Amino acid sequence: MENFDWKNLPFGYYKTDYNVRCYFRDGKWGPLEVTDSEYISIHMAATALHYGQEAFEGLKAYRGKDGRIRLFRWEENARRLIHSARGIYMAEVPVELFKEAVFKAVKLNEKYVPPYGTGASLYIRPLLIGSGAEVGVKPSPEYIFLVFVTPVGPYFKDGIKPVNMMISRDFDRAAPQGTGTFKVGGNYAASLRALMAAKDSGYATAIFLDAKEKKYIDECGPANFFGIKNNTYVTPKSESILNSITNMSLIKVAEDMGMRTERRRVPVEELAEFEEAGACGTAAVITPIAKIFDPGTGKVYEFCKNGNPGPVTLKLYKKITGIQYGEEEDPYGWTTVIE
Ligand SMILES: Cc1ncc(COP(=O)(O)O)c(C=O)c1O
Repeated sequence: MENFDWKNLPFGYYKTDYNVRCYFRDGKWGPLEVTDSEYISIHMAATALHYGQEAFEGLKAYRGKDGRIRLFRWEENARRLIHSARGIYMAEVPVELFKEAVFKAVKLNEKYVPPYGTGASLYIRPLLIGSGAEVGVKPSPEYIFLVFVTPVGPYFKDGIKPVNMMISRDFDRAAPQGTGTFKVGGNYAASLRALMAAKDSGYATAIFLDAKEKKYIDECGPANFFGIKNNTYVTPKSESILNSITNMSLIKVAEDMGMRTERRRVPVEELAEFEEAGACGTAAVITPIAKIFDPGTGKVYEFCKNGNPGPVTLKLYKKITGIQYGEEEDPYGWTTVIE
């Protein structure tokens, strides 16, 4: 991997050497298999293809200052995949199988874990799909669990540079009692019209509102929202958003930095009161928000006057990435070194 341009990696797919797979048949998981094929052979009537019976995860492996490779809170991703599997009636991937597959996929592709200091990391994508043939709407009897990895740069270009976002007034992502808390493909398909409308208007992503009342902030495209005011970290509580592991971690870090934290409904008008705002997630890391445009009211909310991230956002960013890259002590036991 000499002469590889790690610093300019996009958040996209780049082929690595191996991926790992496991098949659920006759009510049980088979052995883990390693392959160098990027393709899966799947029945044309598979439930994943017709009825969206599929869920996935996203986590990263980080090359530390000490050269070692760390995973961040992988057990939470394993638990969330179980939550998603239950949500759409799929076979659950046991935590131990998830661990074995993820660790193996990273280890086999170790040379693709970007060097320390490049801002890049190895994105890990576990995927669970209903592979059995059905024509009626019902859960598949068979599943494929696979894990591939790909080296990535930050999701929003320029890393910690603030970006502009647009509130989605025309399109919703998930219904209050729908599938919003599950990491299932259907939610992402549902979000595309809003994301493309925001991008076409020059914004980095769309901010979704609660689908019922259209009054409260749900989340920012593929990331959770947070706002900072009066030494308080405020983040939306909603029954239609993905429970972000990054957000969960930032809440803890903020508390330990002496801030108050509030997880509650966040009305759109409250945007006017935040001193800083940001999006957080595995891919987004922490992306500061410069401006939010609300096409419903025509209002523009500004958070970064000089184009730089605010001091609290920066402090949170340094702390969380410091733990992930092994620069800072990890008092929470969030990181696991892959030996
Ligand atoms: C819709 C959505 N919200 C939030 C997040 C952030 O979650 P996490 O911090 O667990 O990556 C993601 C990314 O996984 C996402 O796709």
